[in-house]
Amino acid sequence: MTRLGSLGNGLAKDPPDCVNDSGNIFPLLSTENMKICCIGAGYVGGPTMAMIAKQCPDIPVHVVDLNQERIDAWNSDHLPVYEPGLDEVVKEARGRNLTFSTRVDEAIKEADMIFISVNTPTKTFGIGAGRAANLEFIEKCARQIARSAKGHKIVVEKSTLPVRTAEAVKRILSSECNGATFDVLSNPEFLAEGTAVDDLLNPDRVLIGGESAEAIEALSSVYARWISREQILTTNLWSSELSKLTANAFLAQRVSSINAMSALCEATGADIDEVARAIGSDSRIGPKFLKASVGFGGSCFQKDILNLVYLCEHFGLRQVANYWEQVVIMNDYQKRRFSEDIVKTMFNTVSDKKIGIWGFAFKKDTNDTRESPAIYICRDLLRERARLSIHDPRVPAQQIRQELLLACTDMSGHLTENDRWLVENNVTIANDCYEAADDAHAIAILTEWDQFKTLDFEKVHAAMHRPSFLFDGRNLLDQATMNGIGFEMHAIGKAFHPASVPAS
Ligand code: UDX
Ligand code: UDX
Repeated sequence: MTRLGSLGNGLAKDPPDCVNDSGNIFPLLSTENMKICCIGAGYVGGPTMAMIAKQCPDIPVHVVDLNQERIDAWNSDHLPVYEPGLDEVVKEARGRNLTFSTRVDEAIKEADMIFISVNTPTKTFGIGAGRAANLEFIEKCARQIARSAKGHKIVVEKSTLPVRTAEAVKRILSSECNGATFDVLSNPEFLAEGTAVDDLLNPDRVLIGGESAEAIEALSSVYARWISREQILTTNLWSSELSKLTANAFLAQRVSSINAMSALCEATGADIDEVARAIGSDSRIGPKFLKASVGFGGSCFQKDILNLVYLCEHFGLRQVANYWEQVVIMNDYQKRRFSEDIVKTMFNTVSDKKIGIWGFAFKKDTNDTRESPAIYICRDLLRERARLSIHDPRVPAQQIRQELLLACTDMSGHLTENDRWLVENNVTIANDCYEAADDAHAIAILTEWDQFKTLDFEKVHAAMHRPSFLFDGRNLLDQATMNGIGFEMHAIGKAFHPASVPAS
């Protein structure tokens, strides 16, 4: 490993060896001869490492995971993660400087910098169940690094973690007395699924939190290969950890705020898209993240807010906890409101009626269904005895069924026979939107896939029962056009006017 002579940020041109967090002396790092490894080949670890490997062809990047099936998929033509543009990025770097394997110990030994990108789901048991983050996988990773590491390593927290987790990670790392030394950095990921490649290529900012200037500089110099130095923000560890939770809380809060207003729009005759446009042109508010919807989903928003709530409670900040919890409560209300409105509108019964479900992913351009609002809306409609025909362009049938079974299972792992029967017998998976709508009483749009906008809606309508209900949970389609075709379309945040539907 050579020294950081050429690096900026006020470092000496030919710096001396440095003292790290543990008080050990170690040589400064540059990206020359650097080796990177990442534990966790998921939605974040896979794309992020693929981008680093693409942009830094001289840096070997080894992504490891316990899940052999997932690694096999990363090594195949069918990547486990669907992201526009990702196939090309992986193809360019794989076999050159990007490796996917399950050889965790070997990867740790060889790397100078180790990213931890394992999942941190909400705890489903014990203290903090339903709120706190489950840090089991983080701790296991830290212990494995401590056991396998030799020499000096920079350990980078990529996973979203509660504030001060780095402290625990540091203690675990220093618990093995094998002479290895460590610096710990927090480098939260801000990419959004569906736009991950562009977000990684052109991020608004990269955030690096840490205590060692040299370790921060080593990681900065990786990103600086394609991101300007001004966009690389450095903070202390705790600010970095908290900034990730805060960013997600603010974003989710905007969605809950616009969704709250959507209920008021429906009651008053205002139009939520017009309200969003009107407020979004105020430069202080801005136009992004003001799309009313059936509710937010994804692996992060709910989990991170609940984690924040737990953290506030832990520090005795009850009012602050209540304030943020309301964002999740509003989101649950929005999902429930949508399925209840469907039942109410369809003459208070959907029992034995076929409903076509268009979209199951939590947003367009991803195959990810974690916390997708579609799961809960479908579950509630199933419990009303509806027959669902579900189509999503990217989500496999098996995954849809698994998510529904999971949503019917309570915290103690109990699934009633009734719920199992409903998922097994009242759910069919359709090959396309037409099949899902055929002979249906209603269609519900739950993901905003672009291809749903350009269907032959006359054909869809012709194959449905009358009235042909269309519930647009993403405000994807034009209400007047759809009503003109003969649908009875109900949209989020828009009052329904019966006079707008021609007599059929
Ligand atoms: C990431 C972050 O890490 C999480 O904290 C953040 O909130 C969301 O984004 P993500 O990449 O979406 O998580 O998770 P996932 O797709 O589930 O991938 C995690 C991977 O880690 C899985 O492939 C899993 O097999 C692997 N893993 C988990 C390990 O290799 N070792 C473990 O000990 C645990
Ligand atoms: C989010 C953050 O945006 C990202 O910075 C972080 O790293 C991970 O969590 P992600 O969950 O992948 O990313 O997608 P995002 O685009 O934020 O959407 C989250 C949910 O909010 C989706 O269900 C989406 O449909 C919904 N949403 C978003 C709305 O309903 N309306 C909006 O205006 C925006």
